[in-house]
Amino acid sequence: MFGKLLQHSFRIFILSAKSQARSSARVRRYGKMSKPTIYLTRKLNSAAMKRLEEQCVVELWEGPDPVPRETLLSNIANKKGLCCLLTDRIDQEVLDAGTDLKVISTMSVGFDHLDLPAIRAKNIRIGYTPGVLKDATAELTMCLILATGRRLMEASKEAATGGWSSWSPFWMCGMGLLGKTVGVVGAGAVGSEVMRRVKPFRPKDLLYVNRTPRPDLEEELGAKQVELDELLATSDYVVACTSLNSDTQEMFNEEAFSKMKKTAIFVNSARGGVVDQDALIKALENETIGAAGLDVTTPEPLPLSSPLFKMKNCVILPHIGSATYTTRYAMAMLAVENLICGLKGEEMPEELKAK
Ligand code: GLV
Repeated sequence: MFGKLLQHSFRIFILSAKSQARSSARVRRYGKMSKPTIYLTRKLNSAAMKRLEEQCVVELWEGPDPVPRETLLSNIANKKGLCCLLTDRIDQEVLDAGTDLKVISTMSVGFDHLDLPAIRAKNIRIGYTPGVLKDATAELTMCLILATGRRLMEASKEAATGGWSSWSPFWMCGMGLLGKTVGVVGAGAVGSEVMRRVKPFRPKDLLYVNRTPRPDLEEELGAKQVELDELLATSDYVVACTSLNSDTQEMFNEEAFSKMKKTAIFVNSARGGVVDQDALIKALENETIGAAGLDVTTPEPLPLSSPLFKMKNCVILPHIGSATYTTRYAMAMLAVENLICGLKGEEMPEELKAK
């Protein structure tokens, strides 16, 4: 009898120990404390926030402006993941403060704000958001091409401020795309989409400069790969769509502007850093080129004191290339998914692999 009782209590003890082990395993795998802790440098849309909060313990910078450097440095400690924007410079100092970081996910296609060698040296995986923003950015580039060529901002201001006295034969004339030569520097995802959108406007020639040939674009659009000098000398529109790196840093400098047509329209929807901005200011002031349309500048935001704001032949937008609701939602979801997959050690939808 006593033996049976002992056996019975021993079984109960074993079963309860097993169930305790199972439940603590469950706590470890699914409980709040088991979620990786991440830092998010700006609040995202509710679907992205919900997905992130399901999978991670989220610490968030709630401000409408970029997280102050000191706040980022103190809050990155003990975080496994970082979800950031192109306004956040992620360099050695941030990595030294974030010693637990395993994944950095940026909600951008550009990654010039990330110190890649330093990040790679720490085996931190990187996610980014190419693809989903190419159409919106190409569309905005078209807006800039047309607004600058056809002098939209200037004309609209004239209309609103009494400068519109009558219809006049040559007043507010600009340059269209029909029969013109359009040169795109950087035939990547955005550059190709810009070319596709320029084509129906029936330019005379569609030129491009790229590290590698794009026979697909040549066949589809009749685009022609040329050397940079030829593109600069012959294009009516020079459109910068290249990423910013050590090869493209300030590639549009005094020499480049001096090679362009006097009537050339320079459009930049890539990064401010691909332009020597002082040289651009001079080129516009001295009429070395005709006009410029810029979605990106150095620095951002461009100070109100910049001479560029005073020029009639310069259209400036506040870095809104990808700014459609659909695109920004897609970018946010992709950045979140990259982070979650990276933290789980899974394949990321868009990982920035070593180049
Ligand atoms: C925008 O400029 C981006 O890099 O996503």
